[in-house]
Amino acid sequence: MEEKIHTILARAQEALAQSSSSEEIEEIRVRFLGRKGELTQILRGLGELSPEKRGAIGKRANEIKAKIETAIESKIESLRHSKFIRLIDEEWIDVSLNSPATTGGLARGHLHPISHIQYEIEDIFTSMGFTVLDGPEVETDYYNFEALNIPSYHPARDMQDTFWTEDGNLLRTHTSAIQVRGMETHRPPFKVIGPGRVFRYEAIDASHENTFYQVEGMMVDRNISVAHLIYFMKVLLREIFKKEVTIRLRPGYFPFVEPGFELDIHCLICGGKGCSVCKQSGWVELLPCGLVHPNVLRYGKIDPDEWSGFAFGLGLNRLVMMRYGINDIRHFLSGDIRFVSQF
Ligand code: PHE
Repeated sequence: MEEKIHTILARAQEALAQSSSSEEIEEIRVRFLGRKGELTQILRGLGELSPEKRGAIGKRANEIKAKIETAIESKIESLRHSKFIRLIDEEWIDVSLNSPATTGGLARGHLHPISHIQYEIEDIFTSMGFTVLDGPEVETDYYNFEALNIPSYHPARDMQDTFWTEDGNLLRTHTSAIQVRGMETHRPPFKVIGPGRVFRYEAIDASHENTFYQVEGMMVDRNISVAHLIYFMKVLLREIFKKEVTIRLRPGYFPFVEPGFELDIHCLICGGKGCSVCKQSGWVELLPCGLVHPNVLRYGKIDPDEWSGFAFGLGLNRLVMMRYGINDIRHFLSGDIRFVSQF
């Protein structure tokens, strides 16, 4: 029996030396020390031995058990260590290497020029105390027309033909719908802008798209006049074009403003001398605006005898085209990466 005990230790050590995973080590532990393991069998059989032998063999068996346990522990420890060494070797990261983005593997994206100018305009207006509002692209007739003083029989509806959904709603034709929503959530005095995508049922050509972008603006306070409107528009244009811009107002008709204007700027390409962009007139039409019609205030539950306001609708596509000399509005939604990657 002593012989057998002795070979157990040698065999356990040999098996451990050959093992290379924690699963294998666990198998070895079960084989030698488990409930049905070799050493356990021997310890169980001690009762059959004579008392003298029982003592000696029992002691020896316990020593061996302890040795196997220690050997297992140290094997587990050395495995853990070599696994760590291997990880350090295999999975290190060279933080000084160039990323794929800088080596041309993965191109880095950037904002579309329309988003870019939209964020610039938001910054300009928030710095003057305006709040930025949002509204849905699918609107109801009420928000897009009715509450803007354009009843269903009004011929002005023909100026803005759009796409209707089967349940009687429509793709908004202008961001002016956001004015109406703004009056529902804000009490005067207030200053808001509402950027967004708008849609029209257009015959598409170099200057007409069915999908384009606007920023609406509305200020309501006491005694607002055309002077306030001109002041804010001049600040806006100076900030955007980074220079003083000469403007003029012409009468323009929109049912939701009275008086209504078309704001023109001195052509930035020729400086007002006349060129192909301004069709030799020296002026470029940029921005419809006006003083808020009393009926619109009434729809917004604002008393027009106490409050007045101005509103404007800035076309972002036109602005970007002016800034970069883009000659065809269809480029914006073309999806042509050669176009957008220029900005
Ligand atoms: N909503 C008008 C349009 O898209 C523009 C506008 C806005 C005019 C606000 C006056 C005041 O044509």
